[in-house]
Amino acid sequence: MSLYKKKLFEHYQNPRNYGVIEGYNFKAELTNFSCGDSVLFQALVNNNCFEKIAFQGQGCIISQATASMLTEYIINKDFDFVKNLSKEDILNMIELDLGPMRLKCALLPLEALNIGINNLK
Ligand code: FES
Repeated sequence: MSLYKKKLFEHYQNPRNYGVIEGYNFKAELTNFSCGDSVLFQALVNNNCFEKIAFQGQGCIISQATASMLTEYIINKDFDFVKNLSKEDILNMIELDLGPMRLKCALLPLEALNIGINNLK
C-alpha cells in the first residue's frame, strides 16, 4: 500500500472527531444516493467559525476518511474558508488523485458542509 493510501486508511480506521456534539448549533448531512453512503456533521459555530466539529457516517473509505480529515482541516476556520475550498484543495488534503467516481466520494463531505452553511442563510 502506498504511503498516501495508508494515510487515508488510517483515518478510516481511526476517524478523528467522530461522534456527536452536545448542544451543537450547526448540522450538515448528505447522502450519496447512488451508493447510500452518508456523512453527518455537527458543530459548535461562533461568529461563522467552526470552534468544534464532529462527524458520523457510513460508507466507503474515501468518503469517511475525507470527512475525518476535513474535521481537522476546518477547525477554527470560518464559513468563507470552507465555501472557498475547491476540488483541488480536497485532493491535496487527501494526497490522492482520483477518477470521477471516487472523486464524488471525496467531495461528499465538503458538499454536505456547504449545504449546511447555505441552509443557515
Ligand atoms: Fe459511496 Fe464512496 S462509494 S461515497
